[in-house]
Amino acid sequence: ERGGFEHFMMKEIHEQPTAIKNTIGSLVSDKAIDLSKIELDDETIKNISNITIVACGSAWHVGMASQYVFEELSGIPVRVELASEFRYRGPILDKNTLVIVISQSGETADTLAALREAKERGVKTLAIVNVVGSSIAREADYVLYTLAGPEISVATTKAYSCQLVVTYLLALQFAFVRGKLEQKDYENYISEIERIPECIQKILDDKERIQWFASKIANSKDIFFIGRGIDYAIGLEGSLKMKEISYIHSEAYAAGELKHGTISLIEDGTLVIGILCQDNLYEKTISNMVECKSRGAFLMGLAPYGRYEIEDTADFVTYVPKMDKHFIGSLAVIPLQLLGYYVSVARGLDVDKPRNLAKSVTVE
Ligand code: F6R
Repeated sequence: ERGGFEHFMMKEIHEQPTAIKNTIGSLVSDKAIDLSKIELDDETIKNISNITIVACGSAWHVGMASQYVFEELSGIPVRVELASEFRYRGPILDKNTLVIVISQSGETADTLAALREAKERGVKTLAIVNVVGSSIAREADYVLYTLAGPEISVATTKAYSCQLVVTYLLALQFAFVRGKLEQKDYENYISEIERIPECIQKILDDKERIQWFASKIANSKDIFFIGRGIDYAIGLEGSLKMKEISYIHSEAYAAGELKHGTISLIEDGTLVIGILCQDNLYEKTISNMVECKSRGAFLMGLAPYGRYEIEDTADFVTYVPKMDKHFIGSLAVIPLQLLGYYVSVARGLDVDKPRNLAKSVTVE
């Protein structure tokens, strides 16, 4: 049942290229995105004044990454909220707000309650869900399914990746319908998204290097993931993967924020993982890594091929294929999933069923 893999998590990590391809295939044909199946018409898309994305855990991390893509491509202001906070905050919503909820299970109590709150307030709701027929899928006005298939491992991997891709397609379509993109650019972006599965496969083919590095760092006490923009959002997910299955304390920090307090935790040998896949932010994040290094940190860098100068700063480097800045997060997260997995295995832990956690959180 684990398809020759030792754990469901590794099986599911390897299913990502196919899961993403299927998910893209369900929404794209002939270089065009089709939302007519979910009856989200162009008039509605044109009228959206702002978007609020609501989710928990890794699904919230998808929201965090996608806000950059939505705002840059479509120009629609986006707010990303934890479902457990949104509900009690008395959020300001207007009739042209679109609330997007993201959930693998479709049963997360706080996310479901947030969806109900939005509906009660008369706001349009769109759900990105993996489980067909789940409560969230049944109750949202519009539903986009991730075709990840059943996810058994408590730590999400393939559902997260499929959710991310759905947000890209949604952002692209919103941008196109609202006249923010030329036909040619729209098609080029779609082609770029269609490259994601093969690029992920390339990263998976090189997983032994990550395994080797994981064995070196498996006894870390603390790990810090730093980056800016989408790189920061990917760090949030990398950090959660690490802590939930390896039980190593880790934090994701917006790289520029470190020096406002957290850098005092860096001591001799502390592992700092810098995510440097956003070209325009590279120099800024590198300088934060140098600051950590001068306080004794041991540095791992994650960057696109071609950025070889990173080896002058980082002690260990993992490269991912080059890709458009909006979508490269889908590649950057893969080595971090692998790292969390291999550290957990090296520590002899129950990878698929980490302590204190349940696959679906149906209590508030
Ligand atoms: C982490 C993880 C959780 C879920 C969160 C939301 O690996 O899986 O953080 O992302 O509990 O669950 P869903 O997506 O089912 O609403």
